[in-house]
Amino acid sequence: MLRPTLIAAASQDRVKAAVQAVPATRAVVARFVAGETTADALAAAATLVAAGLRVTFNQLGEYVTDPGRAGQTRDDFVALAGRLADSGLAGPGSELSVKLSALGLLDGADGPARALDHARLICAAADRAGVLVTLDMEDHTTTDSTLEITRALRRDFPWVGVAIQAALRRSPADCADLAYAGSRVRLVKGAYREPAAVALHRRTDVDLAYVRCLRTLFAGAGHPLVATHDPRLVAIAAELARRTGRGAGDFEYQMLRGVRDGEQRRLAAAGHGVRVYLPFGPQWYGYFTRRLAERPANTLFLLRALASRR
Ligand code: FDA
Repeated sequence: MLRPTLIAAASQDRVKAAVQAVPATRAVVARFVAGETTADALAAAATLVAAGLRVTFNQLGEYVTDPGRAGQTRDDFVALAGRLADSGLAGPGSELSVKLSALGLLDGADGPARALDHARLICAAADRAGVLVTLDMEDHTTTDSTLEITRALRRDFPWVGVAIQAALRRSPADCADLAYAGSRVRLVKGAYREPAAVALHRRTDVDLAYVRCLRTLFAGAGHPLVATHDPRLVAIAAELARRTGRGAGDFEYQMLRGVRDGEQRRLAAAGHGVRVYLPFGPQWYGYFTRRLAERPANTLFLLRALASRR
């Protein structure tokens, strides 16, 4: 969960500048973020693909309320799909992860309609390049509109995936709704700080909910995307796959760049489908602070590196 940390509470620009000024802290950002440019992301992807992993690109940015910037984000994703085709990385091993708030979802009453139009153009470009698209799930105020846009996109692009957050109380029901043939559902624990009225807060409750959602997805006819680094949940997914007769083509593991890299390679070497979430772009701050908040050791490491000023 996104806990209020010293980092999160500080001013974004000041912290960004401080982090970028120190080589050691730049390295902490680089662990989680592939770089600021598309070329950086393509280079990182080529290395992962050569190691037998799949990738999902996320051009960072969120909560955009400037229509010009939302349109630019759409154009950047469309261009990225073209670059993937040109660089030989196109195919279902490559995917675009899209945050609808980066496409203006929350920009006024017609935000959802405009975000859908942008997402449709991204999906059309991805379709031409033969790459996949999955919609990230953001804070709970966006869940209904994200699912509605998923439904609309799937009429033309049935392969569009969507993330579901196990921490939300509604998610077991959403998983049941989404467990139909061809439906790609990325199950995550949930990275946003949410009110107790809509979300579970205790780790064990979230883990139990994750297992419940996993069972529903594996029992259904869809394509589960098991997005967690939690070793117990990875093992439970493997057991559910065995029980439901699913092979590497019927489900996949997904993990974040910089988190349990060894496990990513071990699972891939064991014949599982493993996709690495590859965030990139100058707007890395919000994503980076969520990764820090997930693990106090990351924050301590960053603060120590900042203090060393080397
Ligand atoms: P948990 O946090 O319990 O971590 C399990 C273990 O993984 C830890 O003990 C540690 O070893 C390691 N680990 C986890 N996070 C780490 C970190 N930051 N640094 C170092 N080690 C770490 N969320 C969301 O709300 N919407 C979304 O669309 C997505 N999309 C998404 C895609 C993919 C591919 C992944 C893997 C995750 C997401 N998430 C997400 C984030 C997700 O909700 C969750 O916050 C993180 O995956 C961490 O939760 P775990 O399931 O890994 O468990």
